[in-house]
Amino acid sequence: MELSGKVALVTGGASGIGAAACRRLAALGARIVVADVDEERGRAVAGDTDGRFHRLDVTSLASNHAVVAEIEVTEGHLDIAFLNAGIVSPTRDDEPLEEAAYRRIVGINLDGVVFGVDAAVPAMTRSGGGQIVATASLAGLVPLPGDALYTLTKTAVVAYARALAPTLEPKGITINAVCPGFADTPMITPIKGQFDSIGFPVLTADQVADALIDCLAAHGTGEAWFVQPGMPAAPYRFRNVPAARKPDGSHAPIPADLDPHGAGR
Ligand SMILES: NC(=O)c1ccc[n+]([C@@H]2O[C@H](COP(=O)([O-])OP(=O)(O)OC[C@H]3O[C@@H](n4cnc5c(N)ncnc54)[C@H](O)[C@@H]3O)[C@@H](O)[C@H]2O)c1
Repeated sequence: MELSGKVALVTGGASGIGAAACRRLAALGARIVVADVDEERGRAVAGDTDGRFHRLDVTSLASNHAVVAEIEVTEGHLDIAFLNAGIVSPTRDDEPLEEAAYRRIVGINLDGVVFGVDAAVPAMTRSGGGQIVATASLAGLVPLPGDALYTLTKTAVVAYARALAPTLEPKGITINAVCPGFADTPMITPIKGQFDSIGFPVLTADQVADALIDCLAAHGTGEAWFVQPGMPAAPYRFRNVPAARKPDGSHAPIPADLDPHGAGR
């Protein structure tokens, strides 16, 4: 894939999957904008990739817009937004809910994607199109018992990308989710020993970055790409939910106004 002349924003680009994505996108010719709350490591990745760094807390709608506005001023356009910043739940499922912890994971994992999309779409529309990819997780496709809040946010990211895709398509904008299994990044450092002790294969951050490139190169939209060790990344095939039936057993299409893209059947 040739990305010369393209500008790519990577949130959570200071570490792990985001940093690997920055290196991979840069190697393919893209101009990189690293956005993260971690200034030290974010600036290091920007330096390595000949890119720029913006301090961005993805939980702020205004800050997402400010970063994209700055990109349009400095780079002229935004072509790729990899909305990747994320955390695991700071509390366990069997502990009493702490409101601040709940707001934090929803704010980063879900608001961060929704706000990033809201900021990127007008800029991409102005330049004739673009590609948005959000990092969900395998937990967006299958539940991760023990971290129900993480599952909640990642499932929502998958659903959001699938639901929004038909609306963005006429603007020339694609939106997809990547859904990696466990990947060897600082996020899983506290539990890495458990995988090692049973020989469970975990992905490298570079393998997830490769899946991002595969997803971009495929030019699909509304897809959720699973990324698992030992097999090629690919869009997950969702099973259709049975359509509503009238009393006579015939198919009941929903009102056209509620299904403007014909995608809701
Ligand atoms: N590592 C895994 O096993 C795994 C598996 C599936 C999905 N994911 C997802 O991949 C994404 C990247 O995670 P990773 O494994 O590279 O972890 P990581 O901890 O190495 O990187 C996460 C990055 O997000 C940044 N970040 C956190 N809060 C932020 C905020 N409010 N605003 C901006 N940046 C913020 C961090 O500073 C860090 O640089 C996350 O969305 C994560 O949920 C990870």
